[in-house]
Amino acid sequence: MTTTRVLRVDPLQPDPTALAEAAEVLLRGGLVAFPTETVYGLGAAALDRQAVRGIFAAKERPATDPVIVHLPDLTGLHQLTDDPPPGLDALAAAFWPGPLTLIVRRGPGVPAEVTAGGDTVAVRVPAHPVARALLLAANVPVAAPSANRFSRPSPTCAEHVLTDLDGRIDLIIDGGPTQVGVESTIVDLTRHPPQVLRPGGVAVEALRGLLPDLEMVARFGAESQAAPAPGQFVRHYAPATPLHVFEGAPATGRLALFRLAESLLAQGNRIGLLAFAEDLGALPAGLFEWIEPLGPESDPSFAAQRLYAALRTLDAAGLDVLFARLPEPVGLGLALRDRLIRAADGKVHRA
Ligand code: TXA
Ligand code: MG
Repeated sequence: MTTTRVLRVDPLQPDPTALAEAAEVLLRGGLVAFPTETVYGLGAAALDRQAVRGIFAAKERPATDPVIVHLPDLTGLHQLTDDPPPGLDALAAAFWPGPLTLIVRRGPGVPAEVTAGGDTVAVRVPAHPVARALLLAANVPVAAPSANRFSRPSPTCAEHVLTDLDGRIDLIIDGGPTQVGVESTIVDLTRHPPQVLRPGGVAVEALRGLLPDLEMVARFGAESQAAPAPGQFVRHYAPATPLHVFEGAPATGRLALFRLAESLLAQGNRIGLLAFAEDLGALPAGLFEWIEPLGPESDPSFAAQRLYAALRTLDAAGLDVLFARLPEPVGLGLALRDRLIRAADGKVHRA
């Protein structure tokens, strides 16, 4: 058991002394959780295989799930790959720093622990000022998956990290709640055409401007264009409380949701709801015991920011069943759908 220290910093102008201390922990092979613009990451020096093993132990993450390597800018890229793909520079110029992860060929210096033995490596340049300052202070590539215990929702504030990893990591830099709230979009540039492996903070529509032949390889629902390779996707977070997600136009999806909720309520179930603002006015009285508001469906950025905290809250509320309506697969809505459908174990009610 390690004592986990928490250093609070200003999210926009983090104290250099705190960051120097955190960088030192990383360079000694320790584990530091830090805020990125998407979710908190659990960092270790990426080229130090022993340190990277520590990430997997702390998270109880299966060694078969590779981790993303974070850089402050493109100058360190040569440490990770010998042949950056042709499209990378333009994508980097347009979207880095930011919530985009690119899969490239793995260079010889990258330990197998980072890539789960594979011949590709995931690279990201995060935009959060604290993440950037930490990466610059450490001056080494930093491997960082989300800083949650495996099978828990990704952490969007330091308290979530502490709940999951207290006593298992050296340090948490608390830079307040994260802005985007869902993880980065992952694009595999080693495939032709390039493929979205995970929708996230950068909208797929925006990427298509530079990658017109970009393919979606979603595992669930209508956005799926190809079957995923077996074993490619690890089981993801699912709340202990069963979650039902509903597809369909807002009005019909809502009706189907209410109908099932009514019958479950009649059987004595206590029901929680993730609700868009558009749904709140239509709620029958007394149907839902607990409601977590997600803001307007028309602007899903608030829903993305709130989603994981809302799921943690609902899951801790002692309810029998949770309900959510899926937003349209547009912009950030695509990432929201992906996370909700995974949390529902892949099962979707279609109205
Ligand atoms: O926003 C984010 O991406 C956050 C912050 C901390 O940067 N990180 C994050 O990491 O979400 P993680 O480990 O929770 O998710 C990384 C995903 C995993 O699903 C993993 O399978 C995939 O990236 N991945 C990593 N390396 C890969 C590779 N070489 N090929 C394909 N997928 C890869
Ligand atoms: Mg994760």
